[in-house]
Amino acid sequence: MERKYDDIVKKILVDENEIIEISKRLGEQITKDYAGNELVVVGMLKGGMPFMMELIKHIKLPLVFDFIQAKSYEGTKSTDYVVLKKDVDTDLKGKHVLIVDDVLDTAQTITKVLEVLADRGTVSIELCCLLDKKEGRKVQYDAKYIGKEIPNEFVIGYGLDYNEYYRNLPYVAVVKDEVYK
Ligand code: IMP
Ligand code: MG
Repeated sequence: MERKYDDIVKKILVDENEIIEISKRLGEQITKDYAGNELVVVGMLKGGMPFMMELIKHIKLPLVFDFIQAKSYEGTKSTDYVVLKKDVDTDLKGKHVLIVDDVLDTAQTITKVLEVLADRGTVSIELCCLLDKKEGRKVQYDAKYIGKEIPNEFVIGYGLDYNEYYRNLPYVAVVKDEVYK
């Protein structure tokens, strides 16, 4: 099937330059906050990848990176639940962990990941997200590092997908209403 971006993109919400600026700002903040320490940067597959790759260029600290993948399943009733699909390979004992993702929405995914990592003996675990949909929360959680707050609309690009496509767009865009109809 042919996929034209013009058919799905309603409006560019965050362009590439802004994403680079955000990554610089957060990278500098993280560099200051963890000065004198090493970091394990854990990217959330798949959506967190493009942002993570930009962000780590601006973190001037010794670091290793790894990946974790959570998958959400629709519950039979109103409850959604999240399972771990891929764990990290790195031993996190005694480490400062920084999780990186594309967007924080309901906070159910990060809650599950924190639960899984709770018994690993980490020194600290923080979350850095490119975007925050504050109105979407179903579970109380606020990330320490946020690039930009956005309205509760469906977005694609820079890691964010619609049925697995559009993750490669170099910007974040709102999807046209008719895509859902
Ligand atoms: P939550 O905080 O548990 O709701 O999980 C956030 C995850 O939901 C993100 O990492 C995305 O995979 C997905 N997600 C949330 N909002 C959007 C969106 O607008 N477009 C694409 N994926 C989204
Ligand atoms: Mg995701």
